[in-house]
Amino acid sequence: MFDPSAAIISLIERFMTVTVPKSNEPRPIPTIPEFIYKTAICFIGAWLAQFILGGLFNSANHPLVDFPGPKRAAFTEWYRTYLELFCGRSWVHVLEEWHQKYGKIVRVGPNELSFSDPAAYHEIYNSSNFWDKEASVYQSFGQDHATFGFLKYADAKKRKDIMSPLLSRKAISDLQELVQSNVDRLCEGLTNNNAAGRSSDLFFGLRCFAVDTTTSVCFAISVDALDEPEFKAPIVEAMEKAPAHLVLFKHFPWLQSIFIRMPRWLTVMVAPQTSGIARVMDILRTQIKDAMANPYSLKDSSRHIVYHALLSVEANEGAKSADEKSLLQEAQSLLLCGSDAVSNQIMLGTWHLLESPALVRRLNKELLKVWPVLDIVPSFAELEKLPLLTAVVKETLRIGPGGIPGVLPRVVPEKGATINGSFIPQETIVGMSGYFVHHAESIFKDPKTFDPDRWLGEDSESLDKWLVSFSKGPRSCLGINLAYCELYLVLAALFRRFDIELDSAR
Ligand code: HEM
Repeated sequence: MFDPSAAIISLIERFMTVTVPKSNEPRPIPTIPEFIYKTAICFIGAWLAQFILGGLFNSANHPLVDFPGPKRAAFTEWYRTYLELFCGRSWVHVLEEWHQKYGKIVRVGPNELSFSDPAAYHEIYNSSNFWDKEASVYQSFGQDHATFGFLKYADAKKRKDIMSPLLSRKAISDLQELVQSNVDRLCEGLTNNNAAGRSSDLFFGLRCFAVDTTTSVCFAISVDALDEPEFKAPIVEAMEKAPAHLVLFKHFPWLQSIFIRMPRWLTVMVAPQTSGIARVMDILRTQIKDAMANPYSLKDSSRHIVYHALLSVEANEGAKSADEKSLLQEAQSLLLCGSDAVSNQIMLGTWHLLESPALVRRLNKELLKVWPVLDIVPSFAELEKLPLLTAVVKETLRIGPGGIPGVLPRVVPEKGATINGSFIPQETIVGMSGYFVHHAESIFKDPKTFDPDRWLGEDSESLDKWLVSFSKGPRSCLGINLAYCELYLVLAALFRRFDIELDSAR
């Protein structure tokens, strides 16, 4: 097989060959600008040669040549960089276009295939596939020592086994009062704004709620984002800017390494919008340092939090427990996984509900049955029994962007795999966005319409299989129980306590 790297190395070697001067000639000493210029030419030449030769190989001789797709995408990964970074395109929408044009399996990169047939989702993400996560996407989050960012299933499993009891259905039921107390604070903020004649930015309010809930459930501290005037907490403002950085880091990972290593003052100067996250990370870092310095201090804590689990010798079966870097990454990962998705989903569901006053009236009527007196708030379990609220929660999850609004790329293991009836060679990157499942006309009629009633029909149980917001298989969401608890409690409170309407002036 033609090896482009070897060809490039031999080219560089030729170009760099030193010409030995005749013995009586003085050896010419290059000036510094000349040396820099020559070196730069050398690097650019090598890069161009690799780009062209690599691209030709990808287009003509790669194991994926028979799969359809845009030629430019097959030629180089830089085409995706161009589309995402320079044209500002959403990758899922690009994929949607390509699937319409090329079919249900599309070669979307030199070594990457995307699938759009819903059946393929369960063939990639299922309980018997322990495929690695793909490095370039996951490493752009800077969490390669945390559950979410571990590429190997075995590493993630160890962590999940330790942490999942803390986020189990039972644990979350026991902690629902904590979640409810944050729901109450959110409602208080909305009420105060209303009393002052101001409308509220619910998007920010929900983000503050989700941040305070994740930090209190996972770390037993609250960063009190909900107390900030008009819900404009710095951490929440920083989170809003984060996706733009992530796209940049995905395509230029070396930028992320520099960013992470920069002193705080420089980070704040270069990207002032990230200072809110940095401040919360400082709080978590101090907590971690204290816990590591004095593990017994955790024993006094009223309940178990993630550090009890991760630092416990028993849970780690005598093996070395997580180090400071790993604990900090875990905290960051839980904070971001836990806050962003929850608030985005609830916001979207609320917005869709408000577009349908008849639906809001039905929901309010249903809620009144279990919640007649405002001060006596129903439990999570009681709310879960409400058919319309449950349908609203499911439809909210279906219509929303999911946890990771894109593809969850996996690497096909040795021996290859069969997906959608096609043999996929080993080491191919494969992925499918949940968006294609949730928007499949064959499963969800009129998929662009927010229609909770689709979950109430006679054969609606068969739809549950196709709700994949939390993904499926061994790398599915660790926080699913907490997320459901938040969705039920917040949506119920918003539509029982308030008569909300969209403020077109904002
Ligand atoms: C509506 C809310 C949420 C949605 C839609 C969601 C969705 C997802 C999805 C799709 C994944 C799979 C990612 C992948 O394959 O790389 C995931 C993973 C994960 N989620 Fe969530 N999530 C939500 C809330 C939460 C919460 C509240 C927490 C915790 C506080 C959490 C913690 C995690 C963690 C730790 C992982 C990594 C699991 C692994 O890699 O094995 N998520 N989530």
